[in-house]
Amino acid sequence: MTDHDAVQKQYQDFKSRNLSLNMERGQPADANFDLSLPILSAVDASNYTTDNGVDIRNYPGGILGLREARELFCEQLNVGPDEIMLGNNASLEMMSRFLTWALLRGVNGSSQGWVNESPKLIVTVPGYDRHFLLARELGFELVAVKMTGNGPDMNEVEKLVASDAAIKGIYFVPTYSNPTGDTISQAYAERLINVKAAAGDFTIFADDAYSVHHLQANPTPAPNLLQIAKDAGVANRVILFGSTSKVTFASGGVGLAGMSTDNIAYWSKAMSTGSIGPNKAEQWRHVLFLRNYPGGLTGLMQEHAKILKPKFDKVQEVLNRELGNHNLATWTDPKGGYFVSLDTVQPIASRVVELAKDAGLALTPTGATFPNGTDPENRNIRLAPTRPPVEEVELAMEIVACCIKLATAEAAST
Ligand SMILES: Cc1ncc(COP(=O)(O)O)c(C=O)c1O
Repeated sequence: MTDHDAVQKQYQDFKSRNLSLNMERGQPADANFDLSLPILSAVDASNYTTDNGVDIRNYPGGILGLREARELFCEQLNVGPDEIMLGNNASLEMMSRFLTWALLRGVNGSSQGWVNESPKLIVTVPGYDRHFLLARELGFELVAVKMTGNGPDMNEVEKLVASDAAIKGIYFVPTYSNPTGDTISQAYAERLINVKAAAGDFTIFADDAYSVHHLQANPTPAPNLLQIAKDAGVANRVILFGSTSKVTFASGGVGLAGMSTDNIAYWSKAMSTGSIGPNKAEQWRHVLFLRNYPGGLTGLMQEHAKILKPKFDKVQEVLNRELGNHNLATWTDPKGGYFVSLDTVQPIASRVVELAKDAGLALTPTGATFPNGTDPENRNIRLAPTRPPVEEVELAMEIVACCIKLATAEAAST
């Protein structure tokens, strides 16, 4: 039997098993959610008044969120308690409100709403499909820049931002990026914060969704973007976002936005036009839950890592075993976050995803990691190993490897 026949046979074997596997979206596993079950009973009729005397049943409490919650969550964005404002269920809603406001009224220091200036946003590729969807549907023109192992390709960013006043900002993931797992380096962070921009109100929207989502003990600290901006005298240039979606319950917790105190004043005024204040009951039960959790937020994230790491290890193990030294694909080996990014050597990503689907494995659609839904090289595949159990991750990765071999052989024979 030739190698090709063997791969064909393996593929048909997978197909005949009528599998139904899913590695499409970066969702936590039920075991991750189970860690936070006590949150459901953290608040009851005996403890609805906060330490500072706020009755969570009534309106007062403020647009920024409960002080106790700000003191707790500022650690997640690596900012001070006066440099964070809280939002409702998660981060996308906050990012959407901030970007919408920027379009209509501008950011702190803008002379007008960006909508009047045919605004463009730099996004990194491969990147997060919901960033693309949100910014594109709001009307931004998206300018794609490559995400490198050190962060956004800064040579490209510097060139673009200096010459085009319509580029109002960059929207990217600074830590354990979706999907590559790359973290911006200190040198790139400094270049980005200090970038010479044609737009006076150029803003860095840093979606720090995975800031505390380490897979390893003693992680290397990521660059502190707000501190770098403060040191550079451009404190208002950066806005950080995060949430508890992959800390407690996905889309069922607290959104976070970190920024300079000057920006806090600007954005709290903006946000108070649409709300008397974000959900205090949610914040308070997060405070009570995390306060009581052994080791607090860090302790909880370590428990998450214990569940997630074996899955990421399995991805590496199978890919190395099946594809190592074959020159068929390269892939990232993230130290945190929720994804692995794989690039096939041949332009066959869409065929791999199609073959996998026919064999009962749903992968993220090809092109999802690019702004207009098309991967110009047809090579990138996002792998999301967090939700399935480790045995399913193993099987899914064997199918991925088999489909890559098959699609590469198909491409060679045409
Ligand atoms: C980079 C990034 N940002 C934001 C989100 C969604 O965050 P939230 O649930 O806080 O809206 C995700 C989810 O996968 C993500 O990968």
